[in-house]
Amino acid sequence: MQIQIFQDEKSLHHAVAQTLIDAVKANPKVVLGLATGSSPLETYNNMMVDHLKNGTDYSAVVTFNLDEYVGLEGTHTQSYRYFMNTSLFNGLNIPLSQTNVPDGTGDLKEVCETYEAKIAKAGGIDLQLLGIGTNGHIGFNEPGTSFDTRTHITELLQETIDGNARFFESAASVPKKAVTMGIQTIMDVKRVILIAYGSKKAAAIRDMVNGPVTESMPASILQKHQDVTLFLDEEAAALL
Ligand code: GLP
Repeated sequence: MQIQIFQDEKSLHHAVAQTLIDAVKANPKVVLGLATGSSPLETYNNMMVDHLKNGTDYSAVVTFNLDEYVGLEGTHTQSYRYFMNTSLFNGLNIPLSQTNVPDGTGDLKEVCETYEAKIAKAGGIDLQLLGIGTNGHIGFNEPGTSFDTRTHITELLQETIDGNARFFESAASVPKKAVTMGIQTIMDVKRVILIAYGSKKAAAIRDMVNGPVTESMPASILQKHQDVTLFLDEEAAALL
């Protein structure tokens, strides 16, 4: 794992955004894996500003998001599809038809199979952006998730529901299940960049980097991926 530590969040987001922008410039047809949560928000802002200022071209880029809540239509303001449209896609020149977020409604078994097939048809994911949950989850792969999982339906742990409640009216309105790329889906990507900042993430970062590779710390599997870069601020890196 390569680790880059930044003094402040601003320079961290700038560096992550630049990495994504460089990947698009190097390969206009790049397949990007994208994440939701608060961690990438400012990174996405930087990408939209760059697109406006410098015209970076996303017309041939294809994207796959990690996950979606079960039961939320893409028009629901807390759905990850809505988040991605409003936080990034609408600010770039990417056709929405080339952006993929798992469908949280309908025949979920079919949703999972179709999602994996679409990733394969696109030639796999070139560059995957990840955040990390305080319990070490990546995507919505909670502690205990088998390392050989592909896109599947998962039950969210109470701590994840509580952690995401700030985006909803109450913890009770947070969906209890999600569709998520599996750990094996993530391990198959060519390159991973993981973004984490703030002291709340420090223990998870320590365990991911220095702890044993174990299904009780999902992100620890990344120790076995050959191309991972962590973009951290000093607080998230404090226990390394
Ligand atoms: C959610 C998402 C994850 C994300 C995590 C951390 O659970 N499914 O992909 O990494 O939240 O969120 P935040 O970036 O807001 O700390």
